[in-house]
Amino acid sequence: MVTSDRFADTAVLLTGAGSGIGRATALRLVAEGAAVFAVDANEAGLAGTVDGASGPGRIVAYVVDVSDEPAVVAAVDGAVTELGKLDVLVNVAGIHRTTPIERLTVEDLRALFDVNVVGTALFCREALEHLPEGGVIVNTASSSASHGNPFMTAYSATKGAVLAFSLSLASEVIGRGIRVLVVSPGSTTTPLTAGVRLGGLDARYYSRIASPMGAGRPEQIAATIAFAASRDASYLTGVDLRVDGGSHI
Ligand SMILES: NC(=O)c1ccc[n+]([C@@H]2O[C@H](COP(=O)([O-])OP(=O)(O)OC[C@H]3O[C@@H](n4cnc5c(N)ncnc54)[C@H](O)[C@@H]3O)[C@@H](O)[C@H]2O)c1
Repeated sequence: MVTSDRFADTAVLLTGAGSGIGRATALRLVAEGAAVFAVDANEAGLAGTVDGASGPGRIVAYVVDVSDEPAVVAAVDGAVTELGKLDVLVNVAGIHRTTPIERLTVEDLRALFDVNVVGTALFCREALEHLPEGGVIVNTASSSASHGNPFMTAYSATKGAVLAFSLSLASEVIGRGIRVLVVSPGSTTTPLTAGVRLGGLDARYYSRIASPMGAGRPEQIAATIAFAASRDASYLTGVDLRVDGGSHI
């Protein structure tokens, strides 16, 4: 585990911290000195993240559904009260569904947009009440925001929306000295991808999704999120950092 003081005296609100990429990001930030307000809908998952965290930072767990507006308002207030301030927002919470276009439902579309887009947007809106000059927002999109993947039309649309939202937000808040970045993972081994069923796909489809470097590890995505959130990225804003092991060279 990398340890440093890169995030000393840095207050971070992180969504999706109960599993996968969000958990790896929480562990990385605590190891680098951050005070992390870790948010997720999955209480047991959050407890596992808290158990695994070690380092100079600290972590506080908070259960919330990111698509529930009053609950998001309360979560951001809770973070500021608990941490005393807010320097960084990292939105990682997300859901995935694979559906052939013939079977796409309104329920699929609404569920995906509620969590992936509405949840991200609400946390940005509320956090911006508190972020100071020098503050950072890192939103998680996907390589499918900018590259086609079969059976992922609805999911990809939500990630394209996260990317577009973030670029506009970056331009809106640049004058306040606040950076907004997007991290777009490629296929990464987490419970989310374990639930993705691509059975029946032929090799032409797999070759579009797979990386020649193999599947990504959550720690590799977390390292990029930590970089984006850190002062090492102080001259970066309004860009999409695609971390996909060369899947789309
Ligand atoms: N794993 C991949 O291959 C991959 C690729 C591209 C993008 N992503 C994105 O990375 C992010 C993290 O994915 P992951 O692979 O770590 O998935 P994961 O399923 O392991 O973790 C997602 C977390 O989000 C939480 N969550 C889901 N809905 C929520 C809600 N309504 N309120 C609060 N928390 C909620 C879940 O409880 C879970 O802990 C997602 O936004 C996902 O779309 C993942």
